[in-house]
Amino acid sequence: MRIVVIGGSGHIGTYLSPRLVQAGNEVLSVSRGQREPYRDHPAWRQITRITIDRAAENSAEQIAGLRADAVIDLTCYTLESARQLVNSLRGRVGHFLHCGTIWVHGHSVFVPTTEDAPRQPFGDYGCRKATIEAYLLQEARERGFPATVLHPGHLVGPGWFPINPIGNFNPEVFERLGAGVEVCLPNLGMETVHHVHCDDVALAFERALAARDLLQFGECAIWSQVAAASFSENPTRHSDWLIENGKIRVKRADFRPRVSGSES
Ligand SMILES: NC(=O)c1ccc[n+]([C@@H]2O[C@H](COP(=O)([O-])OP(=O)(O)OC[C@H]3O[C@@H](n4cnc5c(N)ncnc54)[C@H](OP(=O)(O)O)[C@@H]3O)[C@@H](O)[C@H]2O)c1
Repeated sequence: MRIVVIGGSGHIGTYLSPRLVQAGNEVLSVSRGQREPYRDHPAWRQITRITIDRAAENSAEQIAGLRADAVIDLTCYTLESARQLVNSLRGRVGHFLHCGTIWVHGHSVFVPTTEDAPRQPFGDYGCRKATIEAYLLQEARERGFPATVLHPGHLVGPGWFPINPIGNFNPEVFERLGAGVEVCLPNLGMETVHHVHCDDVALAFERALAARDLLQFGECAIWSQVAAASFSENPTRHSDWLIENGKIRVKRADFRPRVSGSES
């Protein structure tokens, strides 16, 4: 399959673009050419890098002109930008996958939050992404545009610090949790962020592409388990961690064997 990845050199694209090549696809990575993927991979030698600025007036037409079977959009932040792309790709692409976000859910009243939970987005970013998503799903249901939306949580990966359970970027918190030390949380521990590694997001996109024939377009595909900010009335219990009385403790450091030494 010939696949265009818009933003193919970013956090997710660093993993996704090589993955798609390894799966036997022809991959075109679209970006402004300002940054390199932060992880080297031999597959990049087979990836065609195309320089297009998404903000340019004719960018959507340029992307459609690449004649891809599938387009994965990792860099859409405005309704107008989504609309231009849909108008250019209509009838010219077999599958369109948009990178959404769990922020469209807003505060959850229960966790895990599933795709069919009511959306109550908040903040400029969450509301814009929710508007884009609603538009894409409407295009799919009413006009057959082959859109699929995925909802990653807070992206993590090597080279940058994720938001910790306290709500800042101090990595010491993870060290303390990993060592089994209790950490005091703000807001009685009622807020959590769902982290997801960029390679897991890449895998989800790869599988959504492969499952094209099983998908019902106009639905949000795959997964999002916990909304960006969770409000829960009860102590939150999970097999790996416990939040109680405003404190969090990791019961089992099971994540360690699943990530590299430096990431752990
Ligand atoms: N960050 C999070 O925690 C989080 C959570 C959930 C969902 N998301 C979603 O994930 C997506 C972002 O993925 P990411 O973190 O992998 O992106 P990223 O690391 O910010 O990468 C952005 C990519 O897009 C390219 N790009 C940026 N501006 C562009 C433009 N005007 N025209 C063409 N290409 C452009 C960049 O390359 P150049 O700079 O070279 O152009 C780069 O390849 C967004 O849809 C966001 O809503 C993010």
